[in-house]
Amino acid sequence: MMNSRTNRVLAGLVLLIVVTGLAAASFPQAPVARGEYLVEQVAKCGECHTPRDGQGGWDEKQWLMGAPIWFRPVQPVTDWGYLAPRLAGLPNFTDEQIRAVLEKGTGPNGLPIRPPMHIYNMTPEDAGAIIAYLRAGKAR
Ligand code: HEC
Repeated sequence: MMNSRTNRVLAGLVLLIVVTGLAAASFPQAPVARGEYLVEQVAKCGECHTPRDGQGGWDEKQWLMGAPIWFRPVQPVTDWGYLAPRLAGLPNFTDEQIRAVLEKGTGPNGLPIRPPMHIYNMTPEDAGAIIAYLRAGKAR
């Protein structure tokens, strides 16, 4: 027969497993992992913010380091953005500025961001995850 100490240890273990399971269910991905997924697989920020290598691929060593836009519109666009700034580490923006860009499509100057940058309407959670990933400065 198990003594009461063993019972307490077992009850503690069961509680730990339940709490861990609940936490995992409510936060399916850590913010940095979520941000990496959004940047790399969904929003594809690297398409414009990473320089090309001359063969049409990305210069992997310059991942998200900022780049000249490599395509032009077929119709005249007066406010075309020719340069996609550095995102790696986000040294040049505050969190609030990035949130305005990703949640509202407004640049630090208060004006709508110029094409071909998309106007994203991200949730605060997704914008926060992208900020966490970019600030983490994770090498590709
Ligand atoms: C299709 C190309 C493209 C994609 C994809 C793209 N961007 Fe941009 N981004 C640009 C261009 C061009 C600019 C410059 C816009 C301007 O000058 O107004 C820019 C500007 C920015 C700025 C600075 C805004 C400002 O006004 O200073 C931030 C921050 C930014 N992008 C973040 C991101 C993030 C994060 C992603 C992915 C979630 C992303 N971009 C995806 C092209 C792109």
